[in-house]
Amino acid sequence: MSDKLILFPETARIERGHLSIGGRDAAELCREFGTPLYVFDEAMLRTQCRGFIGEFRQRYPDTRVVYACKAFINRALAALLAGEGLGFDVVSGGELSIVLAAGAAPERIYFHGNNKSREELAAALGRGVGRIVADNFHELALLEELAAGRRQKVLLRLTPGIDPHTHKFTTTGIVDSKFGFSLVDGQAEEAVKLAGRSRAVELVGLHFHLGSPIFEMEPYEKAIPVVLDFAAAMKERHGLALQELSIGGGFAVSYVLDRPAPPIAAYAEAIATAVREACRQRRLAGPALVIEPGRSIVGRAGVALYSVGAVKRIPGVRTYVSVDGGMADNIRPALYGAKYEVLVANRAGEEGGEVVSIAGKFCESGDILVQDVRLPALRAGDILALPAAGAYCLSMASNYNSSLKPPVVLVKDGQARLIRRRESYDDLMRCDEV
Ligand code: LLP
Repeated sequence: MSDKLILFPETARIERGHLSIGGRDAAELCREFGTPLYVFDEAMLRTQCRGFIGEFRQRYPDTRVVYACKAFINRALAALLAGEGLGFDVVSGGELSIVLAAGAAPERIYFHGNNKSREELAAALGRGVGRIVADNFHELALLEELAAGRRQKVLLRLTPGIDPHTHKFTTTGIVDSKFGFSLVDGQAEEAVKLAGRSRAVELVGLHFHLGSPIFEMEPYEKAIPVVLDFAAAMKERHGLALQELSIGGGFAVSYVLDRPAPPIAAYAEAIATAVREACRQRRLAGPALVIEPGRSIVGRAGVALYSVGAVKRIPGVRTYVSVDGGMADNIRPALYGAKYEVLVANRAGEEGGEVVSIAGKFCESGDILVQDVRLPALRAGDILALPAAGAYCLSMASNYNSSLKPPVVLVKDGQARLIRRRESYDDLMRCDEV
């Protein structure tokens, strides 16, 4: 059982059969805050921030680590990450307002998105965000209109045509993508020319994001020379001075035991080497390197806790164990076929048992969190812990079936701090007009 512990935050322990995180007994946290509950381990979050900054800067000193808020953000988390020295990748006016409210430095914000609205761009310019990552010609035209005498630093998002070997829903760097300027049909060069002539835009660099999660180094190693080929050509033809290269995010986390994620150092080594080597070969000055980890900062730090309710045994077919959350707080199994491990938090030392499927409580047959997992015979009231639940669960959560989004606690040294309360029925009706 305890081999699963490596998927949990580094402070996770099993003591007297109980899972604890950050020095707090998981079952006790559930009694205090109710279930479903998302627990984030502060030490693990800080370890990941320091890991990315340390491993990359050791190999490529001018690296900027920008957290992709889409993985999960709220004010307390933003303040913690800003305190660790991270900048922010935001993709909406909503994410922008949250990180600004948390005190993030505007100049360290990168604004992404394939269809930023006029209002969002105006807000970004007005608040002085550091970079806008321009995705298309419509956006360049909007920037021209909105600049009002300002000059905005911009990166161009490119689609380098590289397959990252991940789920097709989370593949972005291939030619057939809604994101970015394509390298193959001359659009990217057109964008460089346009930006070069513009008074509103100061083109400082190039960006690409291949997809997520990426378990291999090869997609990065292939994409970097392709994009730097383009940078060299643009230098020659249009005088582009590449000050910044953003290689996006996509760093994997271990969700299940049989698919371990590479260590941060492996990504850092591959990416730093590829950038340095490609620059040397093309006689380009080394640009600042921007990385945008999302999942890998928060994924392992977060644990989802659920209470078991109904258990339905269909002899010879399957046993469904239903919990009090599911696809409304974690759509990933239903949407991507994502796999998770599960641990019985209040009987963590017990072996054996039966093969069951963990079902959510929402009105869809596809609302299954974990298929066919061997667990000790479960009873109502048992607490199930899903590791690696920190990324893309809460940020993709919905109020399906008018359910309440779960609370979030941050644990550290035996203390738990509520950083987001559970929604209430009043919250559900807050925007209604009658
Ligand atoms: N930068 C850009 C431009 C991105 O589009 C993304 C993710 C990231 C950085 C961060 O990628 P990460 O380091 O978190 O892998 N909902 C999906 C993942 C969608 C990723 C979207 N873009 C999932 O649950 O697996």
